[in-house]
This record gives sequence, C-alpha cells and structure tokens, in this order.
Amino acid sequence: MIWLMKLSGLFSAAMVMIVLAPALQSFPPAEAIRSSHLDFYLRLPVDTASSRSLNRFSFRKASTFRNAGQCGGGDSRLSGKFGVCDPNLVHVAITLDVEYLRGSVAAVNSILRNSLCPESVFFHFLVSDTSLEDFVRSTFPQLNFKVYYFDPETVRNLISTSVRQALEQPLNYARNYLAGLLESCVKKVIYLDSDLILVDDIRKLWTTNLGEWTIGAPEYCHANFSKYFTARFWSDERFFGTFAGRKPCYFNTGVMVIDLVKWRNGGYTEKIEWWMKLQKSNRIYELGSLPPFLLVFAGNVATIEHRWNQHGLGGDNVRGSCRDLHPGPTSLLHWSGSGKPWLRLDSKQPCPLDALWSPYDLYGNSG
Ligand SMILES: *[C@@H]1O[C@H](CO)[C@@H](O)[C@H](O)[C@H]1NC(C)=O
Repeated sequence: MIWLMKLSGLFSAAMVMIVLAPALQSFPPAEAIRSSHLDFYLRLPVDTASSRSLNRFSFRKASTFRNAGQCGGGDSRLSGKFGVCDPNLVHVAITLDVEYLRGSVAAVNSILRNSLCPESVFFHFLVSDTSLEDFVRSTFPQLNFKVYYFDPETVRNLISTSVRQALEQPLNYARNYLAGLLESCVKKVIYLDSDLILVDDIRKLWTTNLGEWTIGAPEYCHANFSKYFTARFWSDERFFGTFAGRKPCYFNTGVMVIDLVKWRNGGYTEKIEWWMKLQKSNRIYELGSLPPFLLVFAGNVATIEHRWNQHGLGGDNVRGSCRDLHPGPTSLLHWSGSGKPWLRLDSKQPCPLDALWSPYDLYGNSG
C-alpha cells in the first residue's frame, strides 16, 4: 500500500471514481487477443507519424529514489551501484524503441516510484538503436541498467510473410531471446511490455513461485483458445497434437516471469523458432509473436494473479471506446489494444483510466 501514499490528488480522485463506478463491467477474456502482439497490425500510420516527431530531448529527469531502511542487501551508498550479478536484485526486461519510448519511460518510472527498494531493481533494456543508452542515463541518472542490442536480422527471416512489411517490428520478438542476451548470472527476469504501469511493488511479482514451470503469467482459461490458430492447424494432428496431455489456456506475453535457467536448459528459444519456421510454410496462426509462445507453453504456465495484468485498456479500434478494469484488485495496468494513453492524452480525448498513466509520464512539461 506504499504506493497509495504517493498518490497525487488527481490520481486519488480518479481512483475513487473507478472504485465507485457502478457498472464495473468486465469484458470477455477473449478480448485478451487485443494485446501488444496485435498492436503492430493495428497501429495506425498517424500514430507512427506523431511518434516520429517525439523528441527524446524533451523528457524530464526522473525524480531521485532511494531504498527504504528495511531493504537489506548491499548498501549502494557504500559500494556504488549494484553489479548485475548481485543476488538481491529484481531483474526487469523492457524494449526501448522510438515509437514506444514514452510508454517505456513511464513504465520504468512507475516501477521505481512504487518500489520499497527501487535501488534494488536492475533494468535490462532491449534496443535496436544503441544511442538510446545515453537517453536512459540522462533520464534516470541513478538507474541500475544495461542496454542490449537486439539485431533485427535475428528474426527478419522468421517473421511470417503474412505480416505487412511496413508494420513489422522485430523488437516485438526480442522477448524470445532474453535467455541468450542477458548475463548468465541472471537467473530470472520479469519481461514487461512498454504500454503498462505498475501501481504496486514489483518485488511482489518477482517472488511469485514458478514451481516446476519455466514461465509464469496470468492465464485466461475462459478465452476461446482455438481462435488463436487457423483451421489448418486444428485439422492436422501433427500440429494440434502438440497440445496432447496439456490443458492449454490463453495468456498474455506482455507480462511474464521467466526462469532463465530452465529456459536455457530447455532450449525454448529454438522451440519457439521451430514453430515460427513452420508458420512460414504452413500458416498455422494469424498473429505475430504470441502464438509460438502459446504453442510451447500454454498449459505449462505458473499461474500469476490477474491483478498483475489488467490488460485491454488500450480499447479497440472504434474511436472513443474505453475499457474498464476487470473486477478485482489491480497491481499492473496494461494498455494493450490499439489505443495508447499518451496518444489519447495528447489528442485531448483521454479515456478515464488514462489519468492513472499520466502521473508517470516524463515527456514534455506534463505531469
Ligand atoms: C471458438 O472459436 C472457433 C474458431 O473461431 C469457433 O469455431 C468455435 O465455435 C468457438 N467456440 C466457442 C465455444 O465459442
């Protein structure tokens, strides 16, 4: 509840409105399909144009942060910044690209501001433009982080031809390569999309027990799982037979806790690539980076509470359509779907919940 104390007046008012809203309708879990992997199919040219004009020098510096007394572990004031191999760290991986830079920065800011031990969070940024490293250092001067170059060529030939060239985004696939990119001393990582904020301490998500499983994510077992794959997939046992002995459920790949040791030992990067190659010759699904994760992991996922991915807040393509939260507690708000809070706020047509995103925005003179 630490974060509650940090709420601004506007933020609290918005929260109260949400809590009191009489019609807290949930939307069908099937809507989870409108997640980030789909965004790049739906992304409008106008979004791209406006984000290209985003000036990376127009970001304000994040406010300073410091661990609470009870954080324990190494004292960073004596030893300098934590090394990446320090066992007390919480590891977070996020992509940084020009189009979603404002979202990634708000996500990082939200994690720091709601953590009891912000100095103990280590960020792993995946980029295809290494000049962003200086940008991170100037925006978050105290941050423990490392920037990793993700070569778009890694996936160029694996992205299905069904994807329109102009909208394809190789960084969207970088989450499949974390186990190889990050230092081998990093045994676990939380992968987060760039269109979300945390309103709770990320260490609670970090300490989720994955049990025997390699990844953890909130699961949506009421979603119609069959629609994530083509009729061709479901008509050929060589394909759908992969789910034999499993109870596959949809999960959103925008928030995942990954055991990197189990991932490396299991060769999951290659397993996901195997399905991506099959897709090129057989068209077994229509979407981008999500279905191969479902093929490899669905039904073999550690269940994480739904509060850690209140997804779908981006709404759908219909202009002006806004989404409510799912019933239940909220620790993470995810603007998956076509709308992004920064674009709606800029166009003076925000959805009510976008007011929860803006306190973390560091762009321009806002906030
Ligand atoms: C699930 O989706 C498939 C494919 O779109 C459809 O044929 C089937 O009727 C759906 N099932 C339910 C229960 O809605």
